[in-house]
Amino acid sequence: MNKTFPLAVGASVLLYVSALADADISKLPPSASQKGVTFDKDIKPIFEKSCFKCHGPETEKPKGKFRADTLAAVLKGGENSPDVVAGDVKKSTLLHQVGMIVDEDEWMPPKDNKAKIAPLTKEQIALVRAWIEQGAK
Ligand code: HEC
Repeated sequence: MNKTFPLAVGASVLLYVSALADADISKLPPSASQKGVTFDKDIKPIFEKSCFKCHGPETEKPKGKFRADTLAAVLKGGENSPDVVAGDVKKSTLLHQVGMIVDEDEWMPPKDNKAKIAPLTKEQIALVRAWIEQGAK
């Protein structure tokens, strides 16, 4: 194997991590006012529609090794876990990705994806934010 290969991989992981770490959370929509937000009741239906195609229970190789279909899987995270940190909007990179406050190529769902899955609405992003702030239960 070429010696520069591990270096290139290391550098791209660092770039990925720093791109996500730079997110300006003041650009996110404010938290939804709804109380008692839970994954099963409020978040899973959103993910089912917008994420399962690539991160669902039937996906043989979930993208980024991330599964979005159970609370446990979401809290466990994927390749670059954690993706959700209960109570911590700054560290919850999933929110930065669905909220589109990171580089375009990190948005979730991916911009212009072939499956034509639309970005989350402002209301949905606000609900994901409320869910994380309320402890990601
Ligand atoms: C059309 C396919 C597709 C859809 C739909 C999609 N994703 Fe992704 N997702 C990807 C791919 C591809 C990656 C891996 C990106 C990479 O490695 O750079 C990824 C990576 C991620 C990661 C990073 C996991 C990690 O730890 O590395 C998270 C979090 C994520 N997606 C969340 C979501 C959420 C939440 C939704 C729905 C709102 C969603 N994705 C919808 C394709 C998709």
